[in-house]
Amino acid sequence: MAETIKVLVSEEEVNERIKTLGKQISENYAGKQIHMICVLKGGVFFMCELAKRISVPVSLDFMCVSSYGDATTSSGVVRIAKDLDESIEGKDVLIVEDIIDSGRTLYYLIDVLKKRNPKSIQLCTLLDKPERRERDVKVDYVGFEIPDEFVVGYGLDYAQKYRNLPYIGVVEGVE
Ligand code: IMP
Ligand code: MG
Repeated sequence: MAETIKVLVSEEEVNERIKTLGKQISENYAGKQIHMICVLKGGVFFMCELAKRISVPVSLDFMCVSSYGDATTSSGVVRIAKDLDESIEGKDVLIVEDIIDSGRTLYYLIDVLKKRNPKSIQLCTLLDKPERRERDVKVDYVGFEIPDEFVVGYGLDYAQKYRNLPYIGVVEGVE
């Protein structure tokens, strides 16, 4: 059976929600500069859209963490494949992630980043699957809470495909 994508969150809904998040984040960081850290690769589409909606000064950095596992589940063993370019010491850090699933990746990442003495760390995720949580991760900003389904689009992939979809959908027809 061929793979098809069922729309879960439309392009308009995603864009509206990101505008609202940007406004909220700008208000909460009034008078400060936000050092946004994008978790590659999935977080990149979200970070670009979100950064454009934030009205306080921002700087950007990127980190790539991969968790060993198969295509759809994370093993909990996390590896830093690309570290940040700049120090985060004394900075107000906002981690930008595509999705929090088991929470293992972010649990590990927050622990690593806290040791580098940022002034503050907050977490913003486009999607949250709270039902799947295995590690307690404090999420400060959530785009959408979604049910336990495997989703793609807006940065999220299935075997590296579909990241460029401008909406969020569920893959159907996968064995
Ligand atoms: P966690 O460590 O289980 O929270 O896994 C987070 C990572 O797993 C995300 O950053 C995604 O890369 C991937 N992931 C989890 N759920 C999905 C999904 O529904 N679609 C695509 N990737 C997912
Ligand atoms: Mg990710």
